[in-house]
Amino acid sequence: MTSDRREFLKKLGIGVGLASVAGQGLASLRSLVPNVSYDAPTVVKLGIPAEFPEGMKFLPEQRLFVFREGNVFHAISAVCTHLGCTVRAEALSSPVMKKVGGAELRLTHRFLCPCHGSQYTGDGQNVAGPAPRPLEWWALSVAPDDGQLVVDLAKPVERSFRLTTA
Ligand code: FES
Repeated sequence: MTSDRREFLKKLGIGVGLASVAGQGLASLRSLVPNVSYDAPTVVKLGIPAEFPEGMKFLPEQRLFVFREGNVFHAISAVCTHLGCTVRAEALSSPVMKKVGGAELRLTHRFLCPCHGSQYTGDGQNVAGPAPRPLEWWALSVAPDDGQLVVDLAKPVERSFRLTTA
């Protein structure tokens, strides 16, 4: 065997050895990452829009308030922006009109946090207590396959957001 050939085979052997060690290292790192996600899905079907009541509906599983006025929808998170308690809605004695995101919005409720007393107006604006910011508004859409209302609990939207269904 020539020395060139011996040198080549030696380098090849080292290369194969390193590749094998790297492969095993990656495999053991991968084993630390579970194949399943235990996080709740963020995109959730909520039902047929026409079956939502006029006004407000609370969905405890999604911790979400869905508002409907005719065929116009928006959704506000029920998760307090202080430490994450679920806020409760309190009906106003009479609706209040407020310019929200450039358009008039009929506010029928306000939100109160039972944990440390934060208060929010019906558009989610924080007005009292330790809450540092407004309640999130989440994106709504209509599922193309079955026409259900869909919320994306990872996609905040501006308070000008409105979904108009057909
Ligand atoms: S968690 Fe809502 S006020 Fe603290």
